[in-house]
Amino acid sequence: MKRSHTCGALKLSNRGEQVTLCGWVENWRDHGGIIFIDLRDRYGVTQILFNPDAKNNVFEKAKDFRSEYVIEVEGVVEKRPDGTTNPKLSTGEIEVIVNKVELLNTSKTPPISTDDNMYTTENLRLKYRYLDLRRPSMQKNLITRHKSAQIMRNFLNENDFLEIETPFLTKSTPEGARDYLVPSRVNPGKFYALPQSPQLFKQLLMVSGFDRYYQIVKCFRDEDLRADRQPEFTQVDMELSFVDTEDIMNIMEQMIKKLFSDIRGIKFDKPFPRIPYNEAMDKYGLDAPDLRFELPLVEVTDIFKATTFKVFETTVKNGGVIKALKISNGASFTRKDLDELTEFVKVYGAKGMAWIKIQESEWQSPIVKFFTDYEKDTLKERLELKVNDLVIFGSDSYNVVNESLGRLRKEIAKRINLINDDEFCFAWVTEFPLFEWDEDEKRYASKHHPFTMPFDEDIDMLSSDPLKVRAKAYDLVLNGIEIGGGSIRIHRRDIQEKIFNLLKINEEEANLKFGFLLEALQFGAPPHGGIALGFDRLMMFLVGADSIRDIIAFPKTQKATCMMTDAPSDVDSKQLKELSIKLTI
Ligand code: AMO
Ligand code: AMP
Repeated sequence: MKRSHTCGALKLSNRGEQVTLCGWVENWRDHGGIIFIDLRDRYGVTQILFNPDAKNNVFEKAKDFRSEYVIEVEGVVEKRPDGTTNPKLSTGEIEVIVNKVELLNTSKTPPISTDDNMYTTENLRLKYRYLDLRRPSMQKNLITRHKSAQIMRNFLNENDFLEIETPFLTKSTPEGARDYLVPSRVNPGKFYALPQSPQLFKQLLMVSGFDRYYQIVKCFRDEDLRADRQPEFTQVDMELSFVDTEDIMNIMEQMIKKLFSDIRGIKFDKPFPRIPYNEAMDKYGLDAPDLRFELPLVEVTDIFKATTFKVFETTVKNGGVIKALKISNGASFTRKDLDELTEFVKVYGAKGMAWIKIQESEWQSPIVKFFTDYEKDTLKERLELKVNDLVIFGSDSYNVVNESLGRLRKEIAKRINLINDDEFCFAWVTEFPLFEWDEDEKRYASKHHPFTMPFDEDIDMLSSDPLKVRAKAYDLVLNGIEIGGGSIRIHRRDIQEKIFNLLKINEEEANLKFGFLLEALQFGAPPHGGIALGFDRLMMFLVGADSIRDIIAFPKTQKATCMMTDAPSDVDSKQLKELSIKLTI
């Protein structure tokens, strides 16, 4: 060990001790013939001082030091003179008077600053990630990530979960994204798929009797990236035998509560609310509702059954829905605001955005001239309208209205400051439909994945009304973001085959893709279920990061590239030949 202490350790109680520190030169100051250096490592910063008359020629050596040089110093801990202490530093009461120094390495002038207060473009930060990670905020993020993983590991270990690794070179698992493929050299023309999740393997581990499995594991999905998505990301993945929905939600809640309490000191005394999918869609328009504010969507289709307003009339005729969003005191929204919001909803498929401002003498609106007194009165009563309220309408298919008004609800909450950034509102969304209708492919598609168990009392509807069948699936939502999802699985081959039939996965295809699972289900598969938390997303909340990239050491850009290593990149033709691959571009 070269060092006796780290740069964050020394206190007044160490006064008079001879110590050895190693670290980076954070900054260098010449104060009238005395050189001061802030020496930094991941634990903190210590002020070190070089006197011109010190032994071993240390002053002369220190003259040549520059930012980010790596040095080792020996010296004596002293109390800082009165008036020069720094209460912001854990070492702020002391300084080290150097009597021996060794230069361990020099540094070129860094292309980016390691100071949190200096703005650097993200591209440069990602290109020089190893320097970016010297910034205190990034160090804190990764340290918190490490601690969080430990807390969850300890929790799961104490609850009899076994950590078992599953393969990365494997077969495709359907989680709804494209696979990353890996060519096999020894099996020319054949490919592995990197797992989108360990889904099938963890189910097989239940068949083997491992009972409670977990893994903090990388998953790979080739999908369009967004602020909270990465092509490779980490799941805290679990599977349990002999459990039902409530058991899994309860144990997850305990783990999440412990995590938030240990890392952030936040206690949740109540159980997380459980919201059935239909209720979430009706009231918030989205299946991952942000519950930090109310602002509910209210269905008003019935009020306009006999309307003469064309837009509403067409919707009613086509079996669509009309929903209203009331913004109390929203009459102050200007024409420009309303135009902007109209453009906003159009991104989500809406064709327009009708609105009414409730004023003392009249209702101001381009559409109110079409409304009858009955329509106005009923609207007033249902929405409890008051002077100065603003009402916004969405009128279209169920999906378009929910998506556009659901997003608008969040956008408006942001604009009128309804969101408290320090609040954490968890919820379980339950009773998802088992299927959705895929309009492009003209077939049913699994809402979660095809191994999800239907509600017992809905199994009969698999043949008669598949879209009404509810799934034993649940998502954990935090402030409007899905941070986890799971389900009880099908452990009986007959039900699994029925589901594959409905999904138009024929026997041959099913056997080809998941034959091993179907076979395993016939050898005493226990009832089982599980969940996976998006660890990166969870970390964004725990450290308060705006971007998923800020809690990953070496993340990819929105275009799935690595600015530092320049991946993905060309490979030489010899390598391609070995893999029997010919490029067509
Ligand atoms: P699901 O597909 O819902 O479930 O994934 C679980 C959680 O992983 C996170 N997540 C992502 N995070 C970052 N980048 C991505 N590209 C990304 N995709 C997903 C989300 C999500 O809630 N096998 C099932 C789990 C199960 O049924 O047990 C699964 O993977 O927070
Ligand atoms: P129009 O009759 O097209 O001039 O539309 C009258 C008002 O209704 C305008 O404020 C439009 O923005 C709005 N509008 C048009 N289509 C829709 C729709 N699908 N949902 C809600 N409002 C709409």
